[in-house]
Amino acid sequence: MKIDVMIASEKHLKYVGTINDTIDESAKARGTGIARRTDEYITDKINKGKAIIALNGEEFVGFCYIESWGHDKFVANSGLIVKPTYRGLGVAKRIKRAAFDLSRQKYPSAKLFGLTTGEQVMRINTDLGYVPVTFAKLTDDNQFWAGCKSCVNYDILQRTNMTKCLCIGMVYDPEEIAKKAADQKANEKKQSSKIIRLLKKVI
Ligand SMILES: CC(C)(COP(=O)(O)OP(=O)(O)OC[C@H]1O[C@@H](n2cnc3c(N)ncnc32)[C@H](O)[C@@H]1OP(=O)(O)O)[C@@H](O)C(=O)NCCC(=O)NCCS
Repeated sequence: MKIDVMIASEKHLKYVGTINDTIDESAKARGTGIARRTDEYITDKINKGKAIIALNGEEFVGFCYIESWGHDKFVANSGLIVKPTYRGLGVAKRIKRAAFDLSRQKYPSAKLFGLTTGEQVMRINTDLGYVPVTFAKLTDDNQFWAGCKSCVNYDILQRTNMTKCLCIGMVYDPEEIAKKAADQKANEKKQSSKIIRLLKKVI
């Protein structure tokens, strides 16, 4: 079995119905989860080069798309789905990595974020450099939060004045990551200077 993960293009539009049916079936099985999108919405994402698809030959395996919010300051990788028979094989990890690379390429200064209750997704996000944050650190774009209305837990979000819910918010902040890397480099430089000074004293 060879599963290919790629940026979806026009030739993958034939999978739109299957993608939405797989999302639907999964949400029903879990009693929660991501909501069915319209076929037009998924089509638009594919046409704009903002979707990742995984295939085993001609068979649909998985999908995810990217969406920008708050005037492109935030980007979410949404609609992640892997067909049940292909789960546990690392496909979601590969799809998320491809969506991450695509998001960084299209929106280099945006913060990448996601909401999830799933342990698998939390682990994948952590590997990519995301950290858990409070909802206050996520986009305040009302249109994004309107997407939560179809979730069975929406009443919790409303009760907490949109500050908490069952989902964990996670963010990859490129500025923060760059700052951390610079701090680490400066620290390493400081440490090596210290070692050189000590060595000079000994010699
Ligand atoms: C969530 C989902 C996308 C995961 O897909 P997958 O291809 O099975 O995931 P992967 O095989 O890439 O596994 C990803 C990580 O989760 C871990 N994992 C896999 N199955 C797991 C399970 N049942 N419980 C806990 N962790 C699990 C893997 O070990 C891996 O972590 P690691 O890299 O630290 O080893 C898939 O189950 C799905 O489509 N679920 C329904 C839709 C959904 O919930 N979407 C996410 C919305 S936020």
